[in-house]
Amino acid sequence: MTQRLRLGVLASGGGTNLQAIIDRCQDHDFPAEIAVVIANNPDAGALERARQAGIPVRCINHRAFAGREAFDTALVAALREADVQLVVLAGFMRIITRVMLDAFPQRIINIHPALLPAFPGLHVQQQAIDYGARFSGCTVHFVDGGVDTGPIIIQAVVPVFPGDTADTLAARILEQEHKIYPRAIQLIAQGRVLVEGRAVTIDPPATPEIAAFINPSLHN
Ligand code: GRF
Repeated sequence: MTQRLRLGVLASGGGTNLQAIIDRCQDHDFPAEIAVVIANNPDAGALERARQAGIPVRCINHRAFAGREAFDTALVAALREADVQLVVLAGFMRIITRVMLDAFPQRIINIHPALLPAFPGLHVQQQAIDYGARFSGCTVHFVDGGVDTGPIIIQAVVPVFPGDTADTLAARILEQEHKIYPRAIQLIAQGRVLVEGRAVTIDPPATPEIAAFINPSLHN
């Protein structure tokens, strides 16, 4: 196979999305590999998952830096040192500055546990429930200067059920996150993702999995 795309995964938490990517990268036909995992928090479960998989890890604690730019400058240095070509934010709880965006233009992606542009920001599963949304889901998007505002690459939709809590909805969404994040990375690594303004085109096109979701049902 030709060169695999070198990923730098940034995480702050448990790292289940990281794990899904690690698992896909183990497939020799998968066109990407993880060059480094960086956490801003020494307790991030993601670091242990990466170590277990034999992936180089770095812990760059944001608390050790005077400001966001200084922290991002250290991130950029570590990512460059690992020859990273695509930066993958996987539960990374820090706001990215121009320093990162300019170093990796249109080469930073994020996963968000809601159907953007609905419910950007934090605690979004609870927000979807409180709003009474019939569906929520997850979104992989390019990162731009805003909070969860960049061009959308792929989304998955899940129903919101009566009696859902933030936790039950989060678990349902997470299951789909683990499918769409590796898929987004695969499409980018294959050179199939073209961005023009907000519009992201998949070339050659990949059809959606279904025609429509309706909740509640038309039938019972
Ligand atoms: C996921 O829900 C992701 O969408 C959000 O943070 C959570 C990270 O979970 N950005 P994990 O650390 O990948 O398990």
